[in-house]
Amino acid sequence: LFSAIEMAPRDPILGITEAYNADKNPNKVNLGVGVYYDDNGKVPLLECVKKAEAQLMEKAAPRTYLPIEGLAAYDKAVQELVFGADSPVIQEKRAVTAQAIGGTGALKLGADFLKRFSPNAQVFISDPSWENHRALFESAGFNVNNYPYYDASTRGVNFSGMLNALKEMPAGSIVVLHACCHNPTGADLTEAQWTDVIQVVTQRGLVPFLDMAYQGFGDGIDEDGKVVRRFAAAGGPLFVSNSFSKSFSLYGERVGALSIVAASAEEAARVLSQLKRVVRTNYSNPPTHGGQVVAITLSTPELRKLWEDELAGMRVRIREMRQAMVQKLKEKAPGHNFDFVIQQRGMFSYSGLTKEQVGRLRDEFSIYAVDTGRICVAALNSRNIDAVVDAIAKVL
Ligand code: LMR
Repeated sequence: LFSAIEMAPRDPILGITEAYNADKNPNKVNLGVGVYYDDNGKVPLLECVKKAEAQLMEKAAPRTYLPIEGLAAYDKAVQELVFGADSPVIQEKRAVTAQAIGGTGALKLGADFLKRFSPNAQVFISDPSWENHRALFESAGFNVNNYPYYDASTRGVNFSGMLNALKEMPAGSIVVLHACCHNPTGADLTEAQWTDVIQVVTQRGLVPFLDMAYQGFGDGIDEDGKVVRRFAAAGGPLFVSNSFSKSFSLYGERVGALSIVAASAEEAARVLSQLKRVVRTNYSNPPTHGGQVVAITLSTPELRKLWEDELAGMRVRIREMRQAMVQKLKEKAPGHNFDFVIQQRGMFSYSGLTKEQVGRLRDEFSIYAVDTGRICVAALNSRNIDAVVDAIAKVL
């Protein structure tokens, strides 16, 4: 059985962490994976999480099975966060939500669901997109295409290319869009551009699948969620995957959700019943801990306030690192303009570094980045930034 099995390539993102972990250099820096580190280079355990966990410990509740679609309080909190507490799609019971195993799990649930009910649809992802999008939809059985997105010459979005591609997609195509903090480029659409996208997607009968893994890391929780609300207001169908890995610093708890907006409450109930079958045949029902932490935090006003403040702290620190990196690169690599890094949103910067330059950063300086040149700005801190900037200047 196993003799003919070939070695699979390392994962383009998590494989970097494997290589980083094996590196003995004490000054190594991991700018590969999308993880927020504080200024001490540590993944924070948020105060709001500690407090929510203290409440859970106090209760010492038994760990029975959760419902297939997850904790009701969690699903409710997700809907309010994603669609807005006063959203008509919630009031009209047109939105259904299933707790998922992180944002990746949410995408997988959506992909498997869509494969059952729209098996011949084409899937379109941005060029470039998060490395796992293509693999996920392909493993669900879809044919995955790209739509133009990033323009390397302007370091921004090739919007006319994107819009023209949307206008040519067959009706019923599934379009994966990044609701905020585009991964990997950090280049987001403007509000006016989203207006055009929503109009074309709606008019052409495309199925929007919004991936929102970084809500709160762009301009704010509500600001980043606005695109989802605008799509929801445009009617359905709509798929939204979201994640609390980054915004709650709960990476290993795998807390995410898939929400689907349908045309009526009755349609939504049928959709949920089928979504539950997808969950049941994948992992039966989700784990308890992370969902409870998030549900308690979001529904307790003091904890909610604390979370918003802590998330704002992470957002601000990333911005400061962007500014510092650009400033320092001006001094160390005066022939190069990195001002675009300040405009980018979220954890990442598409730095423009080539695969060869990324290889030199790794081999000569133990600085790890994605081959595409994506760097995680959220892993920079006041102690490692000079070494990183020096190394970048040397490989340029
Ligand atoms: C990333 O893009 O680095 C993160 O979303 C982590 C992952 O699962 O790839």
